[in-house]
Amino acid sequence: MIQDRQLREKLVALNPSNPHILKSSAFLIFVADLKRTEKVAQHYDRAYQTEMSLDPLLTAVTDTALALENAVVATESLGLGCVVVGSLRRQIDQVATLLKLPDHMLPLAGLAIGKPITEMKVKPRLPQKVVVHYDTYQDYDYQAIEQYDQTMEAFAEARETKRWSVKFADYFAAEPNFLVDKFIQMKKIYQPNKKV
Ligand SMILES: Cc1cc2nc3c(=O)[nH]c(=O)nc-3n(C[C@H](O)[C@H](O)[C@H](O)COP(=O)(O)O)c2cc1C
Repeated sequence: MIQDRQLREKLVALNPSNPHILKSSAFLIFVADLKRTEKVAQHYDRAYQTEMSLDPLLTAVTDTALALENAVVATESLGLGCVVVGSLRRQIDQVATLLKLPDHMLPLAGLAIGKPITEMKVKPRLPQKVVVHYDTYQDYDYQAIEQYDQTMEAFAEARETKRWSVKFADYFAAEPNFLVDKFIQMKKIYQPNKKV
């Protein structure tokens, strides 16, 4: 939970396209924490080899995403609104420095919580066959995605400025954020090539 206003100002200066970092009533940052279990390992004088595999990171990220989603559900159940801020990872190293995060900790996403100023309609979801598979993967025709594009066009929400499919085609055609790759090595979260 970021209580210090100056810290929120610094975070929004890093990420000006997300003014709700500062404007919201509360701003939380969810951090995948492999430091805590390092303390446990040290207490028992055991080896701590989390950085040799991606699996511990997947566990920590899953835990953190579950906590984030629980916070979203709690927020909504109180009649409040929230925005997940994944773009914090665009400046992951500077965010970690501001939060004084030690090694083994990865800031995953922020959550801006507040009183909604507009009533948002519930967004239509992708057709079931695109997201739910019974027993085994069932391939589907691209038509199912086109159908969703049309549903979203009919939904016509102002914040949706691009076709749903074009948004993702563009997003994954752009150069990935290698800063995260560097960060997880630098912070000893994942460094498989490290000589033991
Ligand atoms: C993992 C994740 C990261 C997101 N990152 C941002 C962000 O950095 N900035 C932002 O304004 N919204 C962000 N969002 C919010 C989405 O743009 C969208 O408004 C939100 O998921 C609500 O969508 P829904 O109507 O499908 O529930 C993020 C959402 C998710 C799930």
